[in-house]
Amino acid sequence: MHILGIESSCDETAAAVVRDGREVLSNVIASQVDLHARYGGVVPELASRHHIEAVAPVILQALDDAGVSLEKIDGIAVTRGPGLIGSLLVGLAAAKALAFARRIPFAGVNHLEGHIASVFLTDTPPEFPFIALVVSGGHTTIFLVEGFHRFRVLGQTRDDAAGEAFDKAAKILDIGYPGGVVIDRLAKQGNTAAIAFPRAMREGLDFSFSGLKTALLMHVKRRAGAIAPEEMCDLAASYQEAIVDVLVEKTFRAAEQIAVARIVVCGGVAANSRLRERFRRKAELAGVRFTVPPPVLCTDNAAMIAVVGGHCLAEGHRDCLDLNAVSRWPVACP
Ligand code: KG4
Ligand code: ZN
Repeated sequence: MHILGIESSCDETAAAVVRDGREVLSNVIASQVDLHARYGGVVPELASRHHIEAVAPVILQALDDAGVSLEKIDGIAVTRGPGLIGSLLVGLAAAKALAFARRIPFAGVNHLEGHIASVFLTDTPPEFPFIALVVSGGHTTIFLVEGFHRFRVLGQTRDDAAGEAFDKAAKILDIGYPGGVVIDRLAKQGNTAAIAFPRAMREGLDFSFSGLKTALLMHVKRRAGAIAPEEMCDLAASYQEAIVDVLVEKTFRAAEQIAVARIVVCGGVAANSRLRERFRRKAELAGVRFTVPPPVLCTDNAAMIAVVGGHCLAEGHRDCLDLNAVSRWPVACP
């Protein structure tokens, strides 16, 4: 069973071919980073226009890389939401057109469910149930995952997402975009204990990152003059550590509370090298089975969408050509 996945929820136009829900035959990602960098964030109107230009070549490239023709594709999986509505509509329209022309089924997929399903593309996917921390530019949520489409929210951010905290910090420090990648790189040369940034809401399983961002802003405003490169690395390392600390602490707390010794971390921020290292170390100490997809499957991609869509289609689910995109779409209720 060959599934063509299409993803265009934010600033990446992506297409992938996945065989039998496990094997990535191709994974093409056209990033719009350069387009949005000068604005320090994604400009929705520019994003959707760029998706229109990129979507057909990206799909053709994915088929070419996979060595399969469109005739070999059994079904199409496409991100339906949540995301930027104008961006989502481009991928969805492309999926519908292909499905209609080829007379094959298609399924609209929840982007967050896609991030969680990226773990099934690793060599050793966990069994259900597992705890999944989804950390991206738009979400920071701890789920109990009991099966495909079976999620329970255990904790979530009350304000900014972790990825947003990285991106906004990079904007405050004027060190480039996207912030997570730049801070990850600078932090490698910095001291994690140089600046005592706050860890908000130590109790419970919810997160809050807006106070941390304000603390950074205050710190920068208090000091006069330009920030030297070494100090910038210390700032990045200390700030990153404050985010990673709470993500690690609360995810392991959730696992302990629910008595599930399997943890998955996914979403763009899961590409962070320090986060991966801290989770790995703690899992070893705690005797918890920890799985994180390779970085290329953590950030937005269409292979993860193909996994979920393939599963929906195998279950007999069929979406109709009047399916609409949705900007908000919770996968589960708290
Ligand atoms: O999952 P994703 O690609 O898109 C959304 O669904 O939001 O996540 C994007 C987020 C951005 O905030 C970006 O700064 C962050 O993931 N990110 C990182 C790293 N790579 C991407 N954050 C920290 N360290 C990284 N290496
Ligand atoms: Zn994402």
